[in-house]
Amino acid sequence: MRHLINPLDFTKEETDKVIKLAEDISQNIEKYSHTCAGKILATLFYEPSTRTRLSFESAMMRLGGQVLGFSSAQSSSASKGESVADTARMISCYADIVAMRHYKEGAPAVAAKFASVPIVNAGDGGHQHPTQTLTDLLTIQKGRGSIDGITIGLCGDLRFGRTVHSLIQSLVRYQNVRFIFISPKELTLPDYIIEEVVKPSGFPYREVSSMEDVIGELDVLYMTRVQKERFFNEEDYVRLKDSYILDHKKMALGKDSLMVMHPLPRVNEIAVEVDKDPRAVYFKQAQNGVYVRMALILSLLGIENEILEDSLC
Ligand code: CP
Repeated sequence: MRHLINPLDFTKEETDKVIKLAEDISQNIEKYSHTCAGKILATLFYEPSTRTRLSFESAMMRLGGQVLGFSSAQSSSASKGESVADTARMISCYADIVAMRHYKEGAPAVAAKFASVPIVNAGDGGHQHPTQTLTDLLTIQKGRGSIDGITIGLCGDLRFGRTVHSLIQSLVRYQNVRFIFISPKELTLPDYIIEEVVKPSGFPYREVSSMEDVIGELDVLYMTRVQKERFFNEEDYVRLKDSYILDHKKMALGKDSLMVMHPLPRVNEIAVEVDKDPRAVYFKQAQNGVYVRMALILSLLGIENEILEDSLC
């Protein structure tokens, strides 16, 4: 039974295969429209979501399957005290594959131990968000033609931003990536990401606090929201929330080929005026989330091997 809890649960080759399949889906979506007929996806969301839950549901529907689930812990028996383990056992009777978001780090990993169907981590606390990473990789691949060789600036809340942690873990498996980590000192990357992921990669990296100083070097600027829900006090959040605001003036310092990405939702960190800049790709990125989740569902259900391999060769 395959699950996707951490980006490293898939080898680089498996990751690239999902991205390649997602690219094909994005160009030939009709070809896939009945491939999951009779299959059911359950979305178990104990934390709020717009993109991840709805793009998973859209993905399964576009594959011809069906969906069920809940969008808050309050509307499930978690509110009566049911454990993640028991929920995972139950849902295995009702669905063929599960996407789970939980406020506790490690909850989807616990579900995977007790489920008899594939579990996908749709975001666990400030830890990991592997399907956002697949979305991000697809967006870079489509935008630049290659993930190798990029200089990427990751900006904002690098401490609590789970999308950043998962993306870095995946990027170190590509070639000649340069990292520039842009954050206030209170929101720098967790030590384990620097010590266990970035340093062993041997790729050059810098930790800086000024976006203006480095934006001109970047191929990709990955903006993030300051994660209000992970702060222990309101005062710190208010002080840090507007640390970076990307606007026309700062965009003027970037390369013509810069890609501005954001996992969304945004608050103030990208001014609305930037949306019309052709270098702003965050809405395309969200669209790519549907294709990548279609590819992931097919992969975890083993359907891409059975039906689709010939058409991808
Ligand atoms: N990118 C992302 O995870 O968005 P949602 O919180 O809306 O799912």
